[in-house]
Amino acid sequence: MITIKSEREIGIMKEAGRITALAHKAVKEAIRPGVSTKELDKIAYDVITSHGAIPSFLNYHGYPASICASINEVVIHGIPSEDIILKDGDIISIDIGACYKGYHGDCAKTHLVGSVNEERRQLVKVTQQSLFEGLKYARPNNRLSDISHAIEKYVKSYGYSVVQSFTGHGIGNKMHEDPSIPNFGEPGRGPILKKGMTLAIEPMVNIGTHKVRVLEDDWTVITQDRKESAHYEHTIVITDDGYEILTKFEGEEFNV
Ligand code: MF3
Ligand code: CO
Repeated sequence: MITIKSEREIGIMKEAGRITALAHKAVKEAIRPGVSTKELDKIAYDVITSHGAIPSFLNYHGYPASICASINEVVIHGIPSEDIILKDGDIISIDIGACYKGYHGDCAKTHLVGSVNEERRQLVKVTQQSLFEGLKYARPNNRLSDISHAIEKYVKSYGYSVVQSFTGHGIGNKMHEDPSIPNFGEPGRGPILKKGMTLAIEPMVNIGTHKVRVLEDDWTVITQDRKESAHYEHTIVITDDGYEILTKFEGEEFNV
């Protein structure tokens, strides 16, 4: 069941989204060669908790950290570790969730570490833009898969693939709610979008095959061909005539 949020709930989700975005900003500022993903996790934890929120991911189905930090061929759910150190030329996808007064914000983006080659920079840029291509269809009376289709079409126009075995999702007082939001498919299918729906839309884009596998830690998802992957996610609310992003922060635009 897809829930419609009240103005009161949307107000709380805006605050959850703002805190999520603040954590992203702090992590982004710390990203450089030599830093460990564990250090980035601590930065996010501190920002989230100091604003009276709880990291949504921590202990979620046993997940042991506040962020996912997924480097190069890691698609999603990379577990932060003091042994994983960023290197010049890496791309790193950071995914953060914060729960404020019982409501969640969820947001991911891929960052460049030092000087990054053109192929990786283009992947990151296309992944980011694919979300916004999808969001062009985020308005009342459109169908959910209009968003999915626009994402896939844009990604494929660059010869990249979209991950199929993980999707975006509704979000609210649970991190994962209905509907599931694939990043591919025919347009004109699925539920009709309505004002007050809150959705986390999150394309995961691979340079090579769309196929992925999960490592023995039962979390880390990597590409089957070990080529790079990028991830971009925002939490949005459907408004009267479009959508509003709840997890945006000033200065988040990339220079890729
Ligand atoms: N942001 C992820 C999602 O949208 C959640 C991370 S999974 C966790 O599904 F287990 F690490 F929390
Ligand atoms: Co999500």
